[in-house]
Amino acid sequence: MPPLSSLPENMQKVVKAAAGKVPPLAGPAFLGRWSTRTTKDLSERIKSAVGGFPPENANEETSINLTAYILQANGALSGTDPLTATIAIPIGRLTENLAQADTPASKR
Ligand code: HEM
Repeated sequence: MPPLSSLPENMQKVVKAAAGKVPPLAGPAFLGRWSTRTTKDLSERIKSAVGGFPPENANEETSINLTAYILQANGALSGTDPLTATIAIPIGRLTENLAQADTPASKR
């Protein structure tokens, strides 16, 4: 992360309020916090984050695309249907494949 003092005032405020720590959005610590929660919980949390720091040209799809990206970065397998704001699948169910990542999909 860049030095705290180099960030805009509103971002410094958010980081200070969280005792100077920004949680990782991928990896075991993240999955530990989120595996029992659903894709809907995550997309709602991300929607609220995006609302606080809206990227340029953000639209309805932005938080869903970010949710899909973050799930993918955590090793989640995609399903046959597109992710939506209302679909609520436990995140742990999408990542339970990780333990068998060396097994070809056809043999699982
Ligand atoms: C639009 C971009 C962003 C997205 C999608 C995003 C997403 C998230 C998510 C999903 C969490 C919850 C993590 C967890 O509970 O495991 C989180 C927490 C946090 N984020 Fe962000 N974030 C964004 C921008 C930022 C920025 C710009 C900052 C500050 C520079 C920031 C600072 C924090 C902090 C301090 C937390 C922990 C405290 C809390 O949960 O409120 N985020 N963010």
